[in-house]
Amino acid sequence: MAGGQISPGMRVYDLMTGMDECWGFIAEALEGRGEIVALDISPVMCRRARERRRAFDGLSIEVIEGDALENSLPDGSADSVVSAFGLKTFSEAQRRRLAFEVARMLRPGGTFSLLEVSVPRTPIMRIPYMAYLKYAIPLLGRAFLGNPDSYRLLGVYPQRFGGCGTMAGYLREAGLEVSAVSHFFGCAASVRGMKPL
Ligand SMILES: C[S@@+](CC[C@H](N)C(=O)[O-])C[C@H]1O[C@@H](n2cnc3c(N)ncnc32)[C@H](O)[C@@H]1O
Repeated sequence: MAGGQISPGMRVYDLMTGMDECWGFIAEALEGRGEIVALDISPVMCRRARERRRAFDGLSIEVIEGDALENSLPDGSADSVVSAFGLKTFSEAQRRRLAFEVARMLRPGGTFSLLEVSVPRTPIMRIPYMAYLKYAIPLLGRAFLGNPDSYRLLGVYPQRFGGCGTMAGYLREAGLEVSAVSHFFGCAASVRGMKPL
């Protein structure tokens, strides 16, 4: 996920961590040496994430319940900040706030990578992908989890989010070097870069 920006020994902040979905990728990049600090606002997610720590034996993983937009993690304390699928539900003001938080938490030379679902530009990808998000996933949620509601908004948020263009602008405004990358023919987008030395 972080495209080579995480290396062994780093202290990595995983914002909007959920239940550990990114830890496998981070752990692989850390090669067993380093630290993950996982932050999520939901007590339920944090409890589940804590339960999953044992699957990453040997790696230091701290799970913190808190708001990524306003947290007590110290200035300049992260070698890398990553986040997957946590941007789309934020308002523009919240995304701008997050950009400044990422810049604040990173040490000079530190890297970041933020990934989100996006809407492909070409109709040949956009139509089936949006149908998948809007209809197939809620159906699967109903069939296997008995709860389509959690998944219903999956088709709505990416459309509202649009892409990582404005997020890239906020991160630049916060003083970071940024590049925006499109993945899987536009089905996902990321912004990555570093805090200048
Ligand atoms: C879609 S999940 C993403 C989980 C995981 N990163 C993944 O790749 O699947 C979004 C997560 O963001 C968390 N979240 C939402 N707002 C937040 C905030 N302001 N601060 C920290 N976490 C937040 C939610 O509790 C949820 O666990």
